[in-house]
Amino acid sequence: METGNNRPARPDLPIDLQVQSRLTDIGRLVSLPPTTFRLLSLLMSENTSSRELQGVLEQDPGLAAKVISLSNSAIYSVRDPVSTIDRAITIIGFKELEIIALGIGLTETFDLKKVPLGFDGRSLWLHCLAVSWIARELALATKAGDPGECMIGGLLHDLGVIILVSKFPIHFQQLLDLLNSGRELVEAETTLSLRHEAIGYNLAHNWGLPQVFQESILFHHFPHLAPAFPKIVTVITLADNLAHRAGFGLELESLSIDLPRTLETLGLKVERLQALVKNIIASISKVEPLWSQVLNGTKPAPKEGGNLSSLLR
Ligand SMILES: [Fe+2]
Ligand SMILES: [Fe+2]
Repeated sequence: METGNNRPARPDLPIDLQVQSRLTDIGRLVSLPPTTFRLLSLLMSENTSSRELQGVLEQDPGLAAKVISLSNSAIYSVRDPVSTIDRAITIIGFKELEIIALGIGLTETFDLKKVPLGFDGRSLWLHCLAVSWIARELALATKAGDPGECMIGGLLHDLGVIILVSKFPIHFQQLLDLLNSGRELVEAETTLSLRHEAIGYNLAHNWGLPQVFQESILFHHFPHLAPAFPKIVTVITLADNLAHRAGFGLELESLSIDLPRTLETLGLKVERLQALVKNIIASISKVEPLWSQVLNGTKPAPKEGGNLSSLLR
């Protein structure tokens, strides 16, 4: 695990003054559910057991009911109805459930059902879940960082977009208008002083989230700038890119990645990454129905570019 005591340097990423002052209020008024905070600290430990996860879920009757209901869904076709958390964990799978439990907490905190026209809030959540899943798979395979931290960092990396969409719809609409007129994301966000990395970092900082997640949010488009956790942030940047190519992209996000630098940071050979990408495609297709079920609906058709191997051309 990377360690670092330095606070992330605040890069020169502008935030609109009006947004800045409201972010302070949001930091005070919007809190993650207590269970989500408990899950965050639990999942950061490398040796979390199924029993510990069960203990946290059982303390939150609403979440426990959702998890049990998921395990009874058509995805699993269980013969006898599931009525306990420990059986639900067995049915759904420990790894799958960790991400889902955290994701449910976030989707309850930030409602993306009422979003500006022309933006699909559901695909934003699917994107975050996919990045989270891929980041953990990459961490497990490369040992480049703690898998739990990579999973959580992946889930939170676009927190700034989530905040913009759910709490600043007028600002977000202005951003969409600029993007629709052909501007690049970074250029459009900078013009409006709405860099999503800075907005997400701001709230993560106000919430007192661990530094590794603050860096994951702030530097996920520039991983080499991360002062204390460059490997973990690189894992998340690569996962972000692979999620796009697997059809779980966030259209407005940039796809650019410095592949040679990424491979060097993670100590990966290109052939090894190719093999990993193949496994990730297989694993993601198994968990995607669960995510769709959690988000109540069907997955939008994969966008063009749904091919991870194109990264390696
Ligand atoms: Fe992003
Ligand atoms: Fe992203």
